[in-house]
Amino acid sequence: LRILVLFGGRSAEHDVSILSATNVMRALEPAKYDAVPVFVSRDGQWLLSRFDGGELAKPSSGTEVCLVPGGFGRLIAIPTDGAPHELPKVDIVFPVLHGQHGEDGSVQGGVEVACVPLAGCGVLGSATALDKDIAKRLLNEAGLPTARSVTIRHGAAPTLAELKDALGLPVFIKPARQGSSVGVSKVSDESEYESALSEGFIHDRKLLAEEFVRGREIECSVLEGENGGLFVSRPGEIVPAESHGFYSYDAKYIDADGAALKVPADLPQEIEDRIRDVAAKAFQALGCDGMARVDFFLTPDMRFLVNEVNTIPGFTDISMYPKAMAASGVSYPELIDRLVAHGLA
Ligand code: DAL
Ligand code: MG
Repeated sequence: LRILVLFGGRSAEHDVSILSATNVMRALEPAKYDAVPVFVSRDGQWLLSRFDGGELAKPSSGTEVCLVPGGFGRLIAIPTDGAPHELPKVDIVFPVLHGQHGEDGSVQGGVEVACVPLAGCGVLGSATALDKDIAKRLLNEAGLPTARSVTIRHGAAPTLAELKDALGLPVFIKPARQGSSVGVSKVSDESEYESALSEGFIHDRKLLAEEFVRGREIECSVLEGENGGLFVSRPGEIVPAESHGFYSYDAKYIDADGAALKVPADLPQEIEDRIRDVAAKAFQALGCDGMARVDFFLTPDMRFLVNEVNTIPGFTDISMYPKAMAASGVSYPELIDRLVAHGLA
């Protein structure tokens, strides 16, 4: 089976995607899969890559590739110094891209237009889940609790006093369509608010101010089976180091001791059951299919809120999605087999 693995990408999570895709490539069993890695540059160019010695090549130029619309997997190579030619057809595309222009339905739409099966979530669920503003509305409409928030549009930011009235202090300011906590700030005073807005608007034209929820971070992996049934993993817990204050980009990927993962999370059975049930409901409320990781806050009085849903969750060494699946009896290679089987069904 020829599987085209897209990685890199135009978002601020470019580097995270490379870590995720490296692990996916390592888990693709050569006896089953003929993997074609394609590096998406920060400018959005699709360049033929190689997987050598356990590492993915990130070419700065070379052979561009494109899927033919309506081509059922036809793949054209465009070398810098030769004539365009056709490569063997691909059977399925697995986008291992995080954030905008990759996890948001755009690439999924392109794959759909090419009439090629897709591993993971389709257009609608990708688009709704990536936009935290839209996602919250759908989750709330389905009766699923989320942290209170105020949507901030460019040029129309409320004052900090208004936010304080609505949400209390501190608040988190986050880009609506970003992952890995890129551009997220914790704000307690005017000067922090100013810089949080400037930082946030670098990444998106729409931000969210969200109430600060004191609680544990619990995450569940959801995987849809070929028959449409949902497998929900046991929940895991992220324990960020005190020094980081919150589970920031640095705590995730830069500082090796920035956070610890506890899988499965130590929870009363009843809470675990309810969280798994809400994870499945959140997945459905956003129109997801294939896979997603549903992230929660659990307050000391055992209330839980849906924080966000990630339709291409991290597959890095420190990522929860594969770990929670493994703790629930689905190994890494098995997980990939099931994602592919779902895509081909
Ligand atoms: N956005 C990162 C990759 C995650 O959710 O794991
Ligand atoms: Mg995320």
